[in-house]
Amino acid sequence: MADRVKAAEPVSPAGLLSGLTDKLQELESAVLRQAERFSAVLEIATLLSSVRDVDALLRTVMDRLSSLLQAEAATLFMLDAEKQELWSRVLRGGGQLDEIRLPLGTGIAGHVMATGQSLLLGDAYTDSHFHPNIDRMSGFVTKSMIAVPLRHVSGRILGVVEVLNRKTNVFSGEDLALVEAVATQIAAVLDNVLLYAELRAQNEALRQAKSDLSNALKDLDLLFETEKAVSSAEKQSDLMDVLLSRVAPTLGATAAAIFLVDPGESQGALYFKSVVGENAESLVTVKLKPAQGIVGHVACTGETVRVARAADHPAHDPSIPARLDVRADAVLSVPITVDEGVVGALALLNKPSGFTESDERLATLIAGQAGRSIKVRRNREEAEQRERLAAIGQMLSGVVHDFRTPLTVISGYTELMATEPDEQQRLQYAAVVDKQFEHLNAMMRETLAFARGERELLIRKVYLQKFASETEAYLRQEFKKSPVRLSVVPRYTGPARFDEGKLRRVVFNLARNAVEAMPTGGHFLFSIDREADDLVLRFEDDGPGLPPEIADRVFDPFTTAGRPEGTGLGLSIVKQIADEHGGTVRVESEPGKGTRFEFKIPVGLAA
Ligand SMILES: Nc1ncnc2c1ncn2[C@@H]1O[C@H](COP(=O)(O)OP(=O)(O)OP(=O)(O)O)[C@@H](O)[C@H]1O
Ligand SMILES: [Mg+2]
Repeated sequence: MADRVKAAEPVSPAGLLSGLTDKLQELESAVLRQAERFSAVLEIATLLSSVRDVDALLRTVMDRLSSLLQAEAATLFMLDAEKQELWSRVLRGGGQLDEIRLPLGTGIAGHVMATGQSLLLGDAYTDSHFHPNIDRMSGFVTKSMIAVPLRHVSGRILGVVEVLNRKTNVFSGEDLALVEAVATQIAAVLDNVLLYAELRAQNEALRQAKSDLSNALKDLDLLFETEKAVSSAEKQSDLMDVLLSRVAPTLGATAAAIFLVDPGESQGALYFKSVVGENAESLVTVKLKPAQGIVGHVACTGETVRVARAADHPAHDPSIPARLDVRADAVLSVPITVDEGVVGALALLNKPSGFTESDERLATLIAGQAGRSIKVRRNREEAEQRERLAAIGQMLSGVVHDFRTPLTVISGYTELMATEPDEQQRLQYAAVVDKQFEHLNAMMRETLAFARGERELLIRKVYLQKFASETEAYLRQEFKKSPVRLSVVPRYTGPARFDEGKLRRVVFNLARNAVEAMPTGGHFLFSIDREADDLVLRFEDDGPGLPPEIADRVFDPFTTAGRPEGTGLGLSIVKQIADEHGGTVRVESEPGKGTRFEFKIPVGLAA
């Protein structure tokens, strides 16, 4: 009864008040705690949004999380897709291990990763997924734990956050909610980080591809350049110089040389065909004995040699660099072959970082071009020989014609001599006959010298009337397809002595340049004059004039501008022909007005 009365007794106002106060305090501290946690989560979120050093940041976040939850340890696991493992990207507290690696699907973390479900365990050891091995290795004893997947908004799971052992009590549902909130933040950041890393890797791959491509382009460019040189070089030594001067810098060699087997010497001694770089001038006179040194070995066996130090190769002969006073560190030497026979070697020296396999490939291509140029040269020499014979055949009628004049004179005078009683007169006739013989001899010598290839020119007496009309006929043909108007004005029509074929070439080269310079039309005038003892050919056009950047060196070989197909040899050949005839060629040009070439050689009629 007393109990009942007691129970039914209304609570005193004081008691009620104190109960309410307690409740209020409890609520207040709960609110405070929540507010504190809320601001901590906010702080973590702010931290995470300012990504710089991701790992340092993740460490800070995990520390903050541990201290907030009064946990002894915290781990952030991430997926190592390549190894199919979870690894501890951040490992705070929890014993002796530097890193934990779990095969996918094992342990609590693996389980959470696989299911995407959070776990809250009062005692980890009671859960079948728990992996006590790690405790054993680390010396840590796991008790209560929270494991939460790092799930990105897309649903992808990037890893797992684990928080271990609350210092007082066990983890609560509230703690779990907090870890989940933080995990969402971490997931968002990590996703960005991963994306960034992926982008960076892709970017790197693109950059690599670009640099590979630009290297390949450079190689192609070089090949194109050298190819152009091969197909156009008039003289082989020019070509080899061009090849070397381009190859050496491209491959980073400080010195380079092309050696050819000396055809004049038996057993294949080598001579320097072209040299660039260190000590170049003094080398050109040096010869190597057959199979001497690395280069000799290459030229003898046809094998390529690529070594970081010359001394590493058994064929290295230290006396060669010593004698030549050059260094021999890195060496790359490839054979030069013509029709499967080795005719020499290309040698590149002293690339500071050593020669690579791709250098070797490029050098092999270049050596191939050198080989082909030698072949082209040989073919050309044979063709020239044939051409020369054909020219002699063609000229023979002309030569016979030329011979006829002195022969008629001789026969006439000998007839006179036979009946001339006056000795003095007879002597005079004899002198005339003698002179004609000399003349005949000179013509014969000239024809024979040309036939033997001792003379570049086949000088003959040519009538300019005939030269002009024949050349004009050819030119008309050439100008048919062009809008350029042609005039040929032979003011001098008499004889002169020159190589007719070569002078025709002069006219064609200059006419073609004018046609090419005036694609939309214009006027080209070719005139022939005799001025004192000179034969003067003039070529005038009203085109755009010479491009100023090359105007002062148009007669140099390989000077070309504004012509994708141009080799830049046309005018250098004109100059060479002028030189061979003991003459000159000059050019005047005004931008927008036109260009005027004057080609002048001695008429050569004195003899
Ligand atoms: N009549 C001209 N008018 C304007 N520019 C000219 C004229 N003739 C020559 N040139 C310039 O001089 C350059 C050199 O001429 P050249 O004949 O030596 O070589 P190319 O014509 O370029 O090549 P190739 O004749 O070997 O095919 C030309 O590229 C061109 O720019
Ligand atoms: Mg030309």
